[in-house]
Amino acid sequence: MLLIPIIAFVSCQVNNTGTGNPEMDSLINDLMEEMVLQEKIGQLNLVTQGGGVPTGSAVSTDVEEKIRAGKVGGIFGVYGPEKGKQTQQLAVEESRLGIPLLFGSDVIHGYKTTFPLPLALSCSWDMELIEQAARMAATEATADGICWNFSPMVDISRDPRWGRISESSGEDPCLGAQIARAMVKGYQNGDVSRCNTMMATVKHFALYGASEAGRDYNSVDMSRLRMYNEYLPPYKAAVEAGVGCVMSSFNDVDGVPATGNKWLLTTLLRDRWGFDGFVVSDYTSVNEMVAHGMGDLQDVSALALKAGLDMDMVGEGFLTTLEKSLNEGIIAEEDINRACRRILEAKYKLGLFEDPYRYFDPSRPEKDILTPENRQFARDAAARSFVLLKNENQVLPLNKGGTVALVGPLANSRNNMLGTWAPTGNPEWSVTVMEGFKNVIGDHVNIRYAKGANISDDPDLAAKVNVFGPRIEIDDRPPESLLEEALHVSRDADVLVAVVGEASEMSGESASRANISLPESQKKLIRALAETGKPLVLVLMTGRPLVLNEETEQASAILLTWHPGVEAGNAVADILFGDKIPSGKLSVTFPRSVGQIPVYYRMKNTGRPQDGDAFVKFKSNYLDLPNSPLFPFGYGLSYTSFKYNNMELSSETIVPGENLNASIEITNTGNFDGEEVVQLYIRDMVASLTRPLKELKDFRKIFIPKGETKKVVFTLTEQDLGFYNFEGDLVTEPGDFEIFIGTDADNVIVKTFNLKE
Ligand code: BGC
Repeated sequence: MLLIPIIAFVSCQVNNTGTGNPEMDSLINDLMEEMVLQEKIGQLNLVTQGGGVPTGSAVSTDVEEKIRAGKVGGIFGVYGPEKGKQTQQLAVEESRLGIPLLFGSDVIHGYKTTFPLPLALSCSWDMELIEQAARMAATEATADGICWNFSPMVDISRDPRWGRISESSGEDPCLGAQIARAMVKGYQNGDVSRCNTMMATVKHFALYGASEAGRDYNSVDMSRLRMYNEYLPPYKAAVEAGVGCVMSSFNDVDGVPATGNKWLLTTLLRDRWGFDGFVVSDYTSVNEMVAHGMGDLQDVSALALKAGLDMDMVGEGFLTTLEKSLNEGIIAEEDINRACRRILEAKYKLGLFEDPYRYFDPSRPEKDILTPENRQFARDAAARSFVLLKNENQVLPLNKGGTVALVGPLANSRNNMLGTWAPTGNPEWSVTVMEGFKNVIGDHVNIRYAKGANISDDPDLAAKVNVFGPRIEIDDRPPESLLEEALHVSRDADVLVAVVGEASEMSGESASRANISLPESQKKLIRALAETGKPLVLVLMTGRPLVLNEETEQASAILLTWHPGVEAGNAVADILFGDKIPSGKLSVTFPRSVGQIPVYYRMKNTGRPQDGDAFVKFKSNYLDLPNSPLFPFGYGLSYTSFKYNNMELSSETIVPGENLNASIEITNTGNFDGEEVVQLYIRDMVASLTRPLKELKDFRKIFIPKGETKKVVFTLTEQDLGFYNFEGDLVTEPGDFEIFIGTDADNVIVKTFNLKE
């Protein structure tokens, strides 16, 4: 109740802290004058009502009481204007100072209109699409009371054993940085004070994607060089794009957990990168520093605060120990003030002091959420993220006639279309492949359906995966009958379409896998279908790259769809029947074996490089596997074909400060209009530090009508030729460079040029 008078009073005070926003500074200065210590500490406390997906063992208790007592700064897991308003009223009308709450959520790939997984969207290589998806998610989420999003997740991910690779944009820092920028722009739209934008959180800072052995929450140990050049660029890009919040990660960085790592949260993030928002911990990651061996709860809470952490998610280490630490002189009041100010600034920027109820307009959900337009967008976005991995004899697109056997455990599985981390989506709203077929081809094709196999026959795996609802449903019928039925429906079919892969919760958080092949039940099905000798199309739904050597041999065509979201079935049918042409490219390498991991395109040369895949003694290779992956980064086919010709450089030498233009002509030589992702890589041939064999520097997704040729021109700056040294400075060294343009990391045309002193 006190809120309004405070604002009226403070808004005419003079700025004295200098954020460049005198009105904000004076409001917060005056508010903080009023606040007692416990209220300041309260602002640093983030609670959950458990309405989303609780991802740790702890959930908050006595939430309402704590809000009234001014012991809560933000909350997540509250959805809908009505509930939001009631909750906000507790803070604004019943707490002493009436400071509004932040309302957070994990809006990872769409809100209620669930888009394809982030990993899938990254395969679109379409920044406009990704930005638009984020904007649409922001419109939906803010209509439901959310003003602060725990996305984008930009962790570079090169280990497909790690389940959270599904939430990432894959393995590459250049692509990852562009996507980070697009998502921040999409969520925030340059102004978080609007009612249809939300504050973004870049996570998980930092290096979480490098968890050892692909095991979730595991340690990370990495050179600074690798950090600067490969893992940090996407977080930095998000900061440069003005992200409002940063979430610290669960892992350690240089031996100190990220949540208590001062070098990371202050020296790098604030002093070097100039971040001026607030830092939130991950779910109980303050408390988890006890298990990391950093001391007891009081020790680790003080460590986190002093390192630069501002808000404590769920664990309440701040709430319960900071006062004691202050009294004992372990922390200073200024440490608390600093963090408190940052939280209040976020609230100010969101416009919550002006109107704490601005995100609770009851008429909005109906207008803004899960609209037909949004669903149509989700359908297009899914089709644009699919990657065609194989298409022998142009089996695809399918004829809109004849008989199709539609089989496989994911062909008619509503529960697995959304993919992991869709806590605000609802499987019930999703379109199955079977429904999509009917929607797209009506009665023109005779569809014969059989499940054919369980996703897995293993009840133990099913129990682990089914925590958020039935994802692996083991049929009452024995596996042999399922298989028999699939073979039966295949008998009269002209083509077999098998929808196979992972259940949605087989990837995601706490869903690491040591064996990333298809489960045996599905392998058996595919073997039996292949033996019929009929054209076999695999539609592959997965949250991670899989080892697919056998299936790649057996199938005539493979369409990788990842988990495609709420419009899954329609999008799959659009592509299979040729209403749309596939244009996605892999943002992550597909290994031949778990033993190759990590395998990624941006490798270095070694002192004993191997030329080609044939084994040579005393070279860097394996006795039992080629070095090359099954499918390289950047790979993806179309129904049409493209030919690259006439690559040209504007010069063979450039001097520092000068740009280089590289151009190429691409001709659509096939029978369909289509889109191609043209990729440009460089190699620094001689440098003071070892450099990768290829580094993506730019790309362009272009539409080329059949029979036509388009020219693409890339411009490289001196900065593009640089790399980070041990000090974290970007340096460019003169010398020879190779420059590659091509259709994927392995299929390129090369030219050389020299950067003069
Ligand atoms: C995840 C975060 C997420 C948080 C809140 C954690 O377990 O690591 O990505 O934002 O839970 O749901």
